[in-house]
Amino acid sequence: MTAGEAAPAEALLRSASAFYFSQSLYALVKLGIAASLARRAATAGELCAELSLAETPAALLLEACAASGYLERGADERYRLAAAFEPYLNPADERYAGDAIANVVEFSYDAWSGLTEHVRTGAAPVSLQQRRAASAELARRSTRGSDQIARRLAGAIAPHLAGPVDSVLDVGCGSAALTRRLLDAWPAARATLIDLATVLSATADYLTPAQRERCTLLARDATAPEPFPGRHDVVILSNVVHVVPAGELGALVRRACDATAANGTVVVTSFFVDEPSSDTAFTSHFSLSCHLLSGSARGLSCAQARALLEACGMTRLRVVETGSTTRAILAARRG
Ligand SMILES: C[S@@+](CC[C@H](N)C(=O)[O-])C[C@H]1O[C@@H](n2cnc3c(N)ncnc32)[C@H](O)[C@@H]1O
Repeated sequence: MTAGEAAPAEALLRSASAFYFSQSLYALVKLGIAASLARRAATAGELCAELSLAETPAALLLEACAASGYLERGADERYRLAAAFEPYLNPADERYAGDAIANVVEFSYDAWSGLTEHVRTGAAPVSLQQRRAASAELARRSTRGSDQIARRLAGAIAPHLAGPVDSVLDVGCGSAALTRRLLDAWPAARATLIDLATVLSATADYLTPAQRERCTLLARDATAPEPFPGRHDVVILSNVVHVVPAGELGALVRRACDATAANGTVVVTSFFVDEPSSDTAFTSHFSLSCHLLSGSARGLSCAQARALLEACGMTRLRVVETGSTTRAILAARRG
């Protein structure tokens, strides 16, 4: 719902109290209530006993979550997950979104409370050191959601890549979710994975011993001016363009293009802030969040990302849909 769709005063108050809704959803997941209700329906009292919760606030939280539609309360006073949300709130389901919900709240809630100061002064409420520690923690907590997106991305981009792929470079690899899928698809391929040293220790934990043999892990700041090593058939910038400082982005994309072999492909994935997403209220807040968290990054539109690639002489640009908010732009290096 956008602010224009409710009575104006009500819309303003609802927006001002949006954190109520965010925090109650977070508590539902974090306290294990959703996981417990996924196993079996329970009364407020039964949940309090099982999860050691305080009776009155727990009862109020359950009512609030039922009013939000996440839960249903039966005639027997037992709560259960509402059918529409069950797959996303049930940790046993592969569509589980609980980790992603927790990550959003835990990694941006405090920073957002510094928004007024950020807009007044331009300073990021999160220091570089804190941001890097958060990146490492996020890589460690890579969610089922990002694995699913990576699976869809890998499936969607593979048919667009000409010829056998021998070499992949993944810049800002995090958990390397996409590259791991590509290595599975191309048994002869080797990969170079670049991220900050603190993050790479988490990356290594995601690789199977066989994948580990085929990967070179390189700790470095991708915004440093040195070229990336080697020439690769596929160079990946997955969910990186919206976290890199705006002033560094053009040069980073150029280094990625320079590290691409003739006829090779650069893959840029992001939650691009333009079409086909029509939820501009969300996408513009996403862009603001990127800036707030980094002090200078922002959400890019597809057109902006394409322009960066075209400025490096890349050709045959294609936008690949993945059925989720993440899309990929593929660009070829001239032969
Ligand atoms: C949003 S995560 C994306 C991770 C992964 N590529 C994916 O799609 O799941 C952004 C990644 O970029 C890395 N990163 C950000 N700035 C970086 C820099 N200056 N040098 C190297 N890596 C960087 C972060 O550490 C983090 O792992």
